[in-house]
This record gives sequence, structure tokens and C-alpha cells, in this order.
Amino acid sequence: MTFPGIEELLLYQLVVESLFSRVRVVLIMSTKQRPDRIYRQPRESVRDFTFDRNVALAFQDMIDRSVPGYATVIDMISVLASTYVQPDSLCYDLGCSLGASSMAMRRGISVSGCTIVAVDNAWDMLNEAQRYLKKNKEGTPIELVCSDLLDIAVCDASMVVMNFTLQFVTPTRRIQVLQSIHDGLRPQGILVLSEKIAFSDAEQESMQIDMHHAFKRANGYNDLEISQKRAALERVMIPETLEQHRMRLRQVGFERIHVWFQCFNFVSIVASR
Ligand SMILES: C[S@@+](CC[C@H](N)C(=O)[O-])C[C@H]1O[C@@H](n2cnc3c(N)ncnc32)[C@H](O)[C@@H]1O
Repeated sequence: MTFPGIEELLLYQLVVESLFSRVRVVLIMSTKQRPDRIYRQPRESVRDFTFDRNVALAFQDMIDRSVPGYATVIDMISVLASTYVQPDSLCYDLGCSLGASSMAMRRGISVSGCTIVAVDNAWDMLNEAQRYLKKNKEGTPIELVCSDLLDIAVCDASMVVMNFTLQFVTPTRRIQVLQSIHDGLRPQGILVLSEKIAFSDAEQESMQIDMHHAFKRANGYNDLEISQKRAALERVMIPETLEQHRMRLRQVGFERIHVWFQCFNFVSIVASR
């Protein structure tokens, strides 16, 4: 049996309660976000990418400099929330990381009686999310939930955001996640699904990857960082083509599927029943 170290005892105040088969987590931790230098030094072998404490502490900088259009997608989630969130409904942020999409939804929501359920299976990411949320408690409540997406039953939802998260779910399990979202959405409710995508046309695939890497270089990453990060993600983040996404969304019952944003090999889709 291992006991928490003194650092953990000092840094964490942990409250876990089980409700509706979910684990709600309130963690209080004192940390600061830092620049992403995770892959700057050469490594003998590159291990698979995980959302651990090092990533959590540099995540804001990492996603800003790695995902073309990320800030726009986050801003537009507010606009979508202002249009689609219904009174007395639940909103979900699946794979919430530091809670950027939850906070964007909160900024957009103008109706009353809603709760935002923000789910992630990485404790280190939720620690950081909690630190942000502590500073801003105004508006629609945000509940942090530590759970795998596969164990979440979406219910009574008017808006579900899955921002760059489905790509980390094993491809054969993705349909299960989408079916739960579809079945838990109210009529006129929406799913916002943002993903890195692949292209079946080899020439386009190569051009889009080149442009993504050029974007990363323009944001200060060097070639070593880009190639080591790519190797780390290779087995854990599996992009699919837009057509594969459309087919699966149709298969679970979504009837309206629209790409509302694309920048190089990153897209965001709005789907409704
Ligand atoms: C790229 S980040 C998402 C970024 C975030 N949605 C945003 O807009 O800033 C992917 C997140 O999904 C979480 N994640 C990956 N697989 C998951 C799973 N099976 N269940 C729950 N969370 C998962 C990771 O821990 C990570 O925080």
C-alpha cells in the first residue's frame, strides 16, 4: 500500500462523491501554466503521448500553438451556445481538458436552469481545470466529472461539445460514444464535433500535413519537437476522414451534419437529429 506524499497532501483537497454512477471531483491545487517545451530535448525513444501532469501544465500553450483555428473554434462555441442551448437542459463538454469549451459555452448561455457537465478521464487535466474554474464561478454551473467517455450516459442535453477528443478514443469504440450523445440529445439539440482529419487523397493528405507543420513552425516549434510529438501521438491519436465521420454520425441517427469550420486538417462539425 502506498501513501500520498507530503506534496500531494498539501496541494490537493479532494472531494469525491458518487452520483448517478459518475464520480464528481473537486480538486484544489496551486499550479501555474507554462510554455510547452515537452519535446524540445532529443529523446532516445519517444513514449506514447498521455495527458499527464507535464502536459496539463503546458496544455494551454500546446493547444494554442498546435491546433490551427483553436481560438476561433472556442469563440464560436459561445456563439453556438447562445443560439442552441435550451432552458433547463444539460450541456456536455466531453474530453474537457482545462475546461475551455465549458467556459465558452458558459459565456454564450443566456437561458436559465442549465448545468454544464465537463468530463475527462485524466486527473491531471481536471486539476488544472479546477484551478481555472475556481477563479470564475459566475454564470451557469460547471460540474467536473472524472470518467471515461465510454462510461457516460448523456441525457436531457441541448448541446454536446467534443472538441478534439473523439480522435483519442479507440476507433471501434467511437460509435458507442456517438450513439450515447445522439440518444441523449433533446430535439433541436446539437453536437459540436471538432477533429483532426485525414484525407483519402494522398496528395491532399501530404499537403495538409505540410501546412500543419508549417503552422507549428510559425508558432515556434522546431523540427525535432514536431517529429517527436508526432511519434508520441502516432498510436494514440487516430484521425479519420470527413467521410468516415459523416458515415458514423448518420449511422447513429444524426440527420443534419454540417462542417462549419476547417483550417488545414482540422475541422469542426455541427450535427443534429
Ligand atoms: C485534445 S484534448 C481536448 C481539448 C479540449 N476539449 C479543449 O477544447 O480545449 C483531449 C482530452 O480528452 C481527454 N480524453 C481522451 N480520451 C478520453 C476518454 N476516453 N474519456 C475521457 N476523456 C478522454 C484527454 O484526457 C484530454 O484532456
